[in-house]
Amino acid sequence: MAERVVLAYSGGLDTSAAIAWLTEARWEVIAVAVDVGQPGDLQRTAARGTALGAVESRVVDARDDFVEQFVLPALHMNALYGRRYPLVSALSRPLIAQVLVRVASETGAAAVAHGCTGKGNDQVRFEVALGALAPGLEVLAPVRDWGMGRDETIRYAEERSLPIETKKSSPYSIDENVWGRSIECGVLEDPWAAPPPDVYELTKSDAAPPEARDVELEFEAGVPVALDGEALSPLHLVEAIGKIAGSFGFGRIDTIEDRLVGIKSREVYEAPAALALIAAHADLESLTLERGFAREKRRLEDVWADLVYEGLWFSPLRSAIDAFAASCRDVVSGTVRLRFGPGSCTVTGRSSERALYDHALATYDEGDTFRHEDAAGFIRLWGLPTRQWARTHG
Ligand code: ARG
Repeated sequence: MAERVVLAYSGGLDTSAAIAWLTEARWEVIAVAVDVGQPGDLQRTAARGTALGAVESRVVDARDDFVEQFVLPALHMNALYGRRYPLVSALSRPLIAQVLVRVASETGAAAVAHGCTGKGNDQVRFEVALGALAPGLEVLAPVRDWGMGRDETIRYAEERSLPIETKKSSPYSIDENVWGRSIECGVLEDPWAAPPPDVYELTKSDAAPPEARDVELEFEAGVPVALDGEALSPLHLVEAIGKIAGSFGFGRIDTIEDRLVGIKSREVYEAPAALALIAAHADLESLTLERGFAREKRRLEDVWADLVYEGLWFSPLRSAIDAFAASCRDVVSGTVRLRFGPGSCTVTGRSSERALYDHALATYDEGDTFRHEDAAGFIRLWGLPTRQWARTHG
């Protein structure tokens, strides 16, 4: 009897051809389309999976899990790989791996499969996550193994009359979820070429740029809970702020990135929700976190982003850093005002009952409680090592 394999199915050319390829290799394919907030009709995608020969196709709506278990931890760490990329694709891979493992156990599958090529980070993220979650499960990477380029894959599909819409497909490689959109390939492979306007979807303003607008975001223990006073689930809040920020054309990133496999690549992203929320969250932290803790957290934020980018979501170090951040998360509660203008998002105000900011200490006006007389002695001691050094060697 043929064994079963659970394939992470996106509906694109590669994973569609993979259904046929795995079936020819005598696997029974179970195609799983994981909904992480990408556009398109996933029920249609699943139907196409069956038409391509999958013995079963499923859609798994993982949007809430994605936001709660992956996006919020990234927000808590203000996570930006290379200080720029909010880890859009890197965050979804460990989640998709979880879904694959669950479906494999439900269906008695002997293997799981992904559609990554051998050049990117995503193959690493899938396989390291799968190794951590289900070390005994076989992992197949048909697109990496079959050695066909894009044109050959199209020919492979045409020879078999596979129902694939290649003509309409864009020249770019796109990966999208609720945290943003990654755009690669085509003309973008020239790092000097300006991204053509057609690469953007989430950050297009239709007509004239809208009037500047203020938005109030409320956080409770680091979690965004309300937008302009309206309570929203984390998923709906991320979607709502993304729409607003995107309508101002805010959230575009054009960067040269160091991939884990050693390649430098030119990447374009749209992450309106991620960049707006990180700006607001980081600002609220500056109001509520103690200086030494905040300083150490900033250092660990870079470590966290590197770990997740490099496929080590399920690592003890990531859990330990999360525990460090969680130890002070309660205080990150309050409201941040963001002002959106054409292409911009600026924090213009913050307030919190847990604020460490003390007007009486900070003010230059009446009511000042700061002990000015302490300053001179403090500076003498603070500068003592430097003075001593200069006296000895200067
Ligand atoms: N360079 C980004 C990353 O490594 C984006 C990857 C996008 N993936 C894709 N299959 N198009 O996270």
